[in-house]
Amino acid sequence: MEGGWPARGGVLLCLTVSLLLQGRGDAFTINCSGFDQHGVDPAAFQAVFDRKAFRPFTNYSIPTRVNISFTLSAILGVDAQLQLLTSFLWIDLVWDNPFINWNPKECVGINKLTVLAENLWLPDIFIVESMDVDQTPSGLTAYISSEGRIKYDKPMRVTSICNLDIFYFPFDQQNCTFTFSSFLYTVDGMLLGMDKEVWEITDTSRNVIRTQGEWELLGINKATPKMSVGNNLYDQITFYVAIRRRPSLYIINLLVPSSFLVAIDALSFYLPAESENRAPFKITLLLGYNVFLLMMNDLLPASGTPLISVYFALCLSLMVVSLLETVFITHLLHVATTQPPPMPRWLHSLLLHCTGPGRCCPTAPHKGNKGLGLTPTHLPGPKEPGELAGKKLGPGETELDGGSGWTKAQLVELWVQFSHVMDTLLFRLYLLFMASSIITVIVLWNT
Ligand SMILES: *[C@@H]1O[C@H](CO)[C@@H](O)[C@H](O)[C@H]1NC(C)=O
Ligand SMILES: *[C@@H]1O[C@H](CO)[C@@H](O)[C@H](O)[C@H]1NC(C)=O
Ligand SMILES: *[C@@H]1O[C@H](CO)[C@@H](O)[C@H](O)[C@H]1NC(C)=O
Ligand SMILES: *[C@@H]1O[C@H](CO)[C@@H](O)[C@H](O)[C@H]1NC(C)=O
Repeated sequence: MEGGWPARGGVLLCLTVSLLLQGRGDAFTINCSGFDQHGVDPAAFQAVFDRKAFRPFTNYSIPTRVNISFTLSAILGVDAQLQLLTSFLWIDLVWDNPFINWNPKECVGINKLTVLAENLWLPDIFIVESMDVDQTPSGLTAYISSEGRIKYDKPMRVTSICNLDIFYFPFDQQNCTFTFSSFLYTVDGMLLGMDKEVWEITDTSRNVIRTQGEWELLGINKATPKMSVGNNLYDQITFYVAIRRRPSLYIINLLVPSSFLVAIDALSFYLPAESENRAPFKITLLLGYNVFLLMMNDLLPASGTPLISVYFALCLSLMVVSLLETVFITHLLHVATTQPPPMPRWLHSLLLHCTGPGRCCPTAPHKGNKGLGLTPTHLPGPKEPGELAGKKLGPGETELDGGSGWTKAQLVELWVQFSHVMDTLLFRLYLLFMASSIITVIVLWNT
């Protein structure tokens, strides 16, 4: 009696276990006698629907594996001030529910059904960067297959925080992240996986983004960091979405007009310095540029200092500098023609050196200077002032300047010549500064 017990006990145990397993198998298999071509008996799924409050598991230690993929269907906008990216995603979630299981052969060949998603347990996947409440529309459905695989797709407008760098605006690229994670379940309860390869996600997104909006999708990358909060470890999948701005709007509306205005400003140096028009012309340009900046202000990012603002400031300062130069030259000419001060010898020899034959100085700005008719050869040398003065001017007009021996007329001519040399020199400096700063800005933009 005592000896026979274990054997009989073993048989009993085996019987019990097999009965239990049998029972379990039955309990999880949906009785589809109610299925036919005209519809599905809701009672068949009632047991599954009743369990929707709980994560569907048959062994608590086995985490639910949710596979994720998404399609980026639109990039709606980038807010540089709030550092937000607004986009539209179609999120696909796939997981297994062990309580859903039927035999398609017994169920008139049905192996896939759609069920209103609110009748099922849904994983609480969210996007960590999202700064908006979940705007998933209600009444979505999910596919359930005869093996218990659930495929749930939802459209979602995502306003996500993104570290935007607008320094290179409008030639900027942004690298934004979408991190999918479970809100509640740690790695013991939920694991995340990929439903599609990243290149597939990138390709479908490229094909789906039909709008030729401001932003262009460059590529999507993936990383799978785990996030630990306290003692809890959460599974995550991070997607890096690289987007690039299409700059043509900004080139046409901002860069081209600005460059034209600066070019006209540079060309206005060719207006004769004696004419009254140069300063008003430059003031008009400056005014026009300010109006342009005011009107185009809306196109610029609302925060930060992009390189384009530096470029605009540079253009504005070039215009101001050129106006100041004109004021200076006008003043010099005024002084020269009304009460020329004695010219220091070193300045005179420098002037001679500068305007001597074969020198470069007499250039375009002098072309308007026809009224004076002064060429370097007409200039008196320092050693023969009296002789020249005597030849050219009558005795009554001769008005010797203190010490230097030049008549006033000669002094005027010398100073006028000096003004023109200064004008040319400053014009060249201006061109040099303009070229170097614009090249610097372009080089910075290209890096
Ligand atoms: C399925 O349910 C029907 C009644 O709705 C019942 O007659 C049938 O025996 C059940 N089948 C199984 C395998 O439990
Ligand atoms: C549950 O799963 C764990 C880990 O896979 C395993 O060790 C354990 O035996 C399972 N329990 C049951 C009742 O199947
Ligand atoms: C998730 O993906 C993994 C690996 O690609 C695969 O083995 C697993 O069956 C998938 N699970 C679901 C529920 O799709
Ligand atoms: C985006 O940034 C991440 C991390 O900073 C980097 O791994 C990834 O390569 C970047 N992607 C692109 C396209 O630059």
